[in-house]
Amino acid sequence: MKVTVVGAGAVGASCAEYIAIKDFASEVVLIDIKEGFAEGKAMDLMQTASLNSFDTKITGTTNDYSKTANSDVAVITSGIPRKPGMTREELISTNAGIVKSVAENLIKHSPNVIIIVVSNPMDTMTYLTHKATGLPKNRIIGMGGALDSARFKYRLAEALEAPISDVDGMVIGGHSDTGMIPLTRLATRNSVPVSKFISEDRMEEVKLETKVGGATLTKLLGTSAWYAPGAAVSAMVQAIALDSKKMFPCSCLLEGEYGLNDICIGVPTIIGANGVESIVEIELNDAEKAELTSSADAVRKTNGLI
Ligand code: LAC
Repeated sequence: MKVTVVGAGAVGASCAEYIAIKDFASEVVLIDIKEGFAEGKAMDLMQTASLNSFDTKITGTTNDYSKTANSDVAVITSGIPRKPGMTREELISTNAGIVKSVAENLIKHSPNVIIIVVSNPMDTMTYLTHKATGLPKNRIIGMGGALDSARFKYRLAEALEAPISDVDGMVIGGHSDTGMIPLTRLATRNSVPVSKFISEDRMEEVKLETKVGGATLTKLLGTSAWYAPGAAVSAMVQAIALDSKKMFPCSCLLEGEYGLNDICIGVPTIIGANGVESIVEIELNDAEKAELTSSADAVRKTNGLI
């Protein structure tokens, strides 16, 4: 499998590193507009190959999309990250133009590519990628829910004083501080509902900590996070490479699912060789449905800005 990662910043490099370390792809191409930057990151990463035991070949290029030709998967991380105090939505005016031109360049050289969108505001950038490329909906996937769910599990484990491998949980909805919906009702510790172990108040705290997970890190780091976003992307690319039909909440184009149309927003999906193999419609209660409606309203408002 050939994977292109657009943007060799912290998130892009982290995607390339985790993909390479798992050793399922034959080739990763890093591409960036900054002269020599992707080449440098690729060389540095390749010098870890003998130490980390991988055979994936990583190369870098300064904006030469011909080097990305015939990619099976492309990950778009380009654009600016947020600074402390900013919302993801505030990045739209800069990132929309960048993501549109990247998507157009990608499909010129890789007509069969599956695109994973990471750039923020992610749900709107995923929708924009649809509009810009006209690719079938299974081949454009927004990465948000896989990351947000990992952050949810981290906070759940902390509250439960349990190992992370004991907990399970999922976040759907928009990838924004207010739009995320951590499904606390369905979260479990080894199949036992977490309500058995922690109070409703503590659960509300976990929910809030999860929703502002990215903002908390941005405040600490001065820019947005990269390890967990990179790991979430690599898990999705691996599911495509191995056709594992793994379930991740992802942002994808909805056509009636969950009562929503003409919008990309996080819902449970099955990821395999075709990208989004299917959307899983789970039964939501009234409160969750209301949260999804207001999350979708906010995403639509941002979509209106493109
Ligand atoms: C975050 C960015 C990737 O949540 O949106 O860290």
